[in-house]
Amino acid sequence: MKIGILGAGQLGRMLALSGYSLNHQFGFSGNATDDPAALLGHMFVKKNNPNNIDSLVKFADVITFESENTDVGIVKKINKKIPVYPNEKSLFTTQHRGREKTLFNHLNIPCAPYQMVNSKEDLQVAVETIGLPAILKTATEGYDGKGQFLIHKVSQITKAWKSMNGVESILEEFVNFKRELSLIAVRGIDNDHKYYPLVENTHYDSILRLTIAPAQNIDKKVQETARHYMQILLDEMDYVGTLTIELFETENGLVVNEMAPRVHNSGHWSIEGANTSQFENHIRAITGMPLGDTTPTHPFCAMINIIGQLKDIDVVLKMPNAHLHLYDKSERKNRKLGHINITANSQTELEDSIAKLKDFLPK
Ligand SMILES: Nc1ncnc2c1ncn2[C@@H]1O[C@H](COP(=O)(O)OP(=O)(O)OP(=O)(O)O)[C@@H](O)[C@H]1O
Ligand SMILES: [Mg+2]
Repeated sequence: MKIGILGAGQLGRMLALSGYSLNHQFGFSGNATDDPAALLGHMFVKKNNPNNIDSLVKFADVITFESENTDVGIVKKINKKIPVYPNEKSLFTTQHRGREKTLFNHLNIPCAPYQMVNSKEDLQVAVETIGLPAILKTATEGYDGKGQFLIHKVSQITKAWKSMNGVESILEEFVNFKRELSLIAVRGIDNDHKYYPLVENTHYDSILRLTIAPAQNIDKKVQETARHYMQILLDEMDYVGTLTIELFETENGLVVNEMAPRVHNSGHWSIEGANTSQFENHIRAITGMPLGDTTPTHPFCAMINIIGQLKDIDVVLKMPNAHLHLYDKSERKNRKLGHINITANSQTELEDSIAKLKDFLPK
């Protein structure tokens, strides 16, 4: 099939790389001819063609997107002509923290207490209700912790509200978590579901740096609970494609943080670490192909993000169990340039391999 992707970043790039072996073709709408996915298909650039989305739709049999910040109005318009997966309802829900949490509450999925905030006065009331510490976040558009303010003291309220630039926001209770986990799953057009195992994520300066897959020492009940949350979310939204749920593991069980209606950075390990990657499964789902097996290929996997600078990538290339994935991006502070996947047969092998790659991780 001809697959059109709204966006041409590294997620679009990896989706296309996984889809060519299934005989699919790709087109992208993007910002520039040097976007990470630009050389992997037909590239429709807005700057050169104001009707670039129409051109993409003319090219494609099915449309998907690589960001939750995709315009719902555009998706609605496209959907009158050709299918868009995930559907408009899933995008509308997951791109707004308030709508997302309303759905969690409706489905009895635990999440942090929250209150929507549209003014400094709203924030004062919300702080009284929720208590401190609490995190103020923009309701939409956030990524890598951008658009967030951690409030410790009442005296920070004015500064916190100012930093939101007047946009709709949400105040969330600060969750005292033991670790951060995520769950990725895929649902097909035929309602088949496949789940990857829970993975453990470590952030530094609000940017994901390391994923361990599967997460170690996970109680069977915790895994089942996370899967149950995922299943009811997939079914409620009539979701087609790969969905990610970010979770906090706390003393009192799992608390859901947010969802992403797409392949996710914490699933990049699955390229070498699972029988079918999150990317290939997304492509299979949206094209109506049978979903692939999600079982890990090794008992221990890890993914290290390459952030800001490439560093000495030859170290990676010399390791038999490390796999380099670069996104064709130039170096810039805090930019995701690529990632390294590690596969291992024992915890010691995993730890030794991560130690060899310590230059790619924060001190
Ligand atoms: N309520 C909370 N309590 C404690 N920590 C939190 C809370 N909300 C967010 N965080 C921390 O901030 C990080 C980023 O928050 P969140 O995932 O909501 O934002 P984001 O900008 O969408 O990030 P990303 O794009 O990396 O997923 C989380 O991974 C977690 O470490
Ligand atoms: Mg997040």
